[in-house]
Amino acid sequence: MKVCVVGTGYVGLTTGVSLAYLAHDVVCVDLDQAKIDMLRSGRSPIYEPHMEELLAAAAANLTFTTRYEDAVPGADVVFVAVQTPSTDDGNPDLRFLRAAAESVGRHLSGDFTVVVNKSTVPIGSGNWVDAILRESYEQHNSRRADGEFSVASNPEFLREGAAIHDTFYPDRIVIGADNRRALDVLNQLYRSILNQSFTPPSGLGRPDQMAAVPLVSTDLASAELIKYAANAFLALKISYINEIGQLAGRVGADVREVARGIGLDSRIGSRFLQPGIGWGGSCFGKDTAALLATAAEYKYDMPIVNAAREVNQRQRTLVVNRLLDELRIVKGRKFGILGLAFKPNTDDLRDSPAIQIAELLEARGARVKLHDPVAADRFRRERPELAANLVNSLEEVFDDSDAVVLATEWPQYLELDWGKFVGLMRNPLVLDGRYSLDSERMAKLGFRYIALAGPAISA
Ligand SMILES: NC(=O)c1ccc[n+]([C@@H]2O[C@H](COP(=O)([O-])OP(=O)(O)OC[C@H]3O[C@@H](n4cnc5c(N)ncnc54)[C@H](O)[C@@H]3O)[C@@H](O)[C@H]2O)c1
Repeated sequence: MKVCVVGTGYVGLTTGVSLAYLAHDVVCVDLDQAKIDMLRSGRSPIYEPHMEELLAAAAANLTFTTRYEDAVPGADVVFVAVQTPSTDDGNPDLRFLRAAAESVGRHLSGDFTVVVNKSTVPIGSGNWVDAILRESYEQHNSRRADGEFSVASNPEFLREGAAIHDTFYPDRIVIGADNRRALDVLNQLYRSILNQSFTPPSGLGRPDQMAAVPLVSTDLASAELIKYAANAFLALKISYINEIGQLAGRVGADVREVARGIGLDSRIGSRFLQPGIGWGGSCFGKDTAALLATAAEYKYDMPIVNAAREVNQRQRTLVVNRLLDELRIVKGRKFGILGLAFKPNTDDLRDSPAIQIAELLEARGARVKLHDPVAADRFRRERPELAANLVNSLEEVFDDSDAVVLATEWPQYLELDWGKFVGLMRNPLVLDGRYSLDSERMAKLGFRYIALAGPAISA
């Protein structure tokens, strides 16, 4: 099929490259010339495992452009995957979506095109995008639109860091469409994923238990709500274990044992029960805010979702409080922070807890030294005001520090030869923000180990 993808960020690029690998004819359009130039030269503008290999494998079916006129006309399917960041009142900023829909509408031509909202968009956006497309199409063509296109919703559930894996081997595909023909087109587009008949890309073998992928075919509003409901649920699962973690610390229980003990209950499940400094990234914060804003519009409040946000925010300040408990004074002290990306295996810094913790410490007069194995360049570009705090080597993170905070559990940090660094610190305190280090081992190496709750452990 002929596919156009609007927006080559984490979602759009993954969608475009994966569909091209599956032998669809894909054109990706983005307004960012630098991104398009990089992609044309075979390099990925984002850090995502397997992306560059897949770009090469799919190159014959894949082109990149900044011009809608080279991408939209004649497409069977147009995916819109532009950003939908939060505004101050929690509602998503839909300017990018509006601009994209206007441009798509202007260039629609052909028999029948399904325009798919892949961005996470508020309930009712399907109708809204339909109206923009129609207006733009009619202005440009000087005639009424009459069945040339239909809008569908196909929310994205990929995890950054495993984006390509999740695209080929999803738990489910959700399609919201009020038009039978649109549903049939998308069903056909995804057929080889739904029935798992494609040859796996090298390095991305099919998981052992992988069966046919369930298709949830529903109406537009339900598809849109499924995305928000899923993200809010995952966010509150993490906040729940973090709330339990604080109580565990107070009653002398080990939250990791509690998480294991409840996670083995198949009704609960073990994923998203890892305690720590909480969630970040581009999705959970903005999507829970959007859900609350939508509820408020309908004069309804959602205390559970609200609480998940509050607990998550509290985790960040708990880091500072825990350091204060240990050190009494934070002002004038030096802290090393390991990890800036909001989670391992991505360079995404949006709403990263590590960065907010650094800011909280700086605001209290501390000096912070920041390190990330992958996201440092992006950090320099996106947060120039903090870039002077970046250090290049692990030695500098530990050197003369009063404490080191493990903020992102990159494998490089977990596998570190920690013993090499203990002697460099002014005070060998480690705060494990991800409950990922072996506390006994750290103590044996000479560190004083603390997590977000529970006793300090030292030899
Ligand atoms: N990142 C994730 O893990 C994830 C997961 C699921 C859903 N989502 C949702 O997917 C959407 C996209 O997220 P993302 O992380 O890929 O965003 P992103 O910021 O990485 O990418 C968006 C891209 O769209 C481009 N763009 C903006 N306006 C444009 C226009 N008018 N025409 C063409 N290109 C335009 C930008 O230049 C950018 O490259 C959001 O709604 C997000 O909530 C994201």
